[in-house]
Amino acid sequence: MVLRQNFGGYLINWVGGKRQLRETVSLLIPSNISSYIEPFGGGGWVLFYYHRWADLEVYNDLDNRLVNLFRVVKYHPCELAREMCYLFHSREQFLSLIQNQGETDIQKAARFMFILSRSFGGRGKHFGVSYESSIKSAGGLIERVDKISKRLDKVIIENLSAMDLIPQYDNENAFFYCDPPYSSGAGYEVVSAAKFEHERLRNTLKNIKGRFLLSYDDAPKIRELYKDFNIIETERINGINRKDIKNNIYKELLICNYDVENINGVWQVKNNNFSQGSIFDV
Ligand SMILES: C[S@@+](CC[C@H](N)C(=O)[O-])C[C@H]1O[C@@H](n2cnc3c(N)ncnc32)[C@H](O)[C@@H]1O
Repeated sequence: MVLRQNFGGYLINWVGGKRQLRETVSLLIPSNISSYIEPFGGGGWVLFYYHRWADLEVYNDLDNRLVNLFRVVKYHPCELAREMCYLFHSREQFLSLIQNQGETDIQKAARFMFILSRSFGGRGKHFGVSYESSIKSAGGLIERVDKISKRLDKVIIENLSAMDLIPQYDNENAFFYCDPPYSSGAGYEVVSAAKFEHERLRNTLKNIKGRFLLSYDDAPKIRELYKDFNIIETERINGINRKDIKNNIYKELLICNYDVENINGVWQVKNNNFSQGSIFDV
């Protein structure tokens, strides 16, 4: 069991990223685990919520642009920072980098991070410019690279399909935080929402020895697929348009294969004893 201490870092905004849910999710992660695995890593918002979740930690995503970025951040943070110095907040450069994603892994990582951080809603499609507030500082991006590089020191980074990864890392003390594409949604570069194999994921998770926590959109199909597991309802404010909060509440489900309880309105793992300490203990 490792001591849990907030880290609160992040590297990129990513579509479907669990920025708003990470505290809720963290209370539902058991303490007595020996491995923490994110088969659908994306921007890794939950992974980066704590300094360390377990002895063994694994980040995985099928999208090799993300995997390349995290590997370069981990192994070549200084080279990445140097490459990023050549990138400016300009519409012309944004449009040209969308066309030319780079030759080397370091160039690819720098350009991918630039495009995500300079685009509208972190979607990497349209140049993001605010007419009310300042642009993101280039120095801030580089500081993030440095912080996340250290956080990734002992994290294994994989590039597999989740359904192949899960059985490989499964054992009684393994924990999987799964955040697959929603059953209804825009989908990802690696898979459209319609093509993702939701049933295959359920069949994979049904047979594991370890524990899992799954986040999904609240849809009848998902409730039906996971009717034999614990289902918790939660909600968050919908992504980009945060101004009209009342009409932008998005309902999500958190599903798990272990006991949970609601104490004073807060869902948590039943009989969880986790130790919190100073970061120097970690
Ligand atoms: C909802 S996002 C994860 C967001 C992440 N939890 C975060 O906080 O940023 C889903 C991710 O699943 C990835 N993905 C889609 N199909 C996959 C598959 N079969 N195996 C592994 N990853 C997959 C996508 O590339 C995407 O990054």
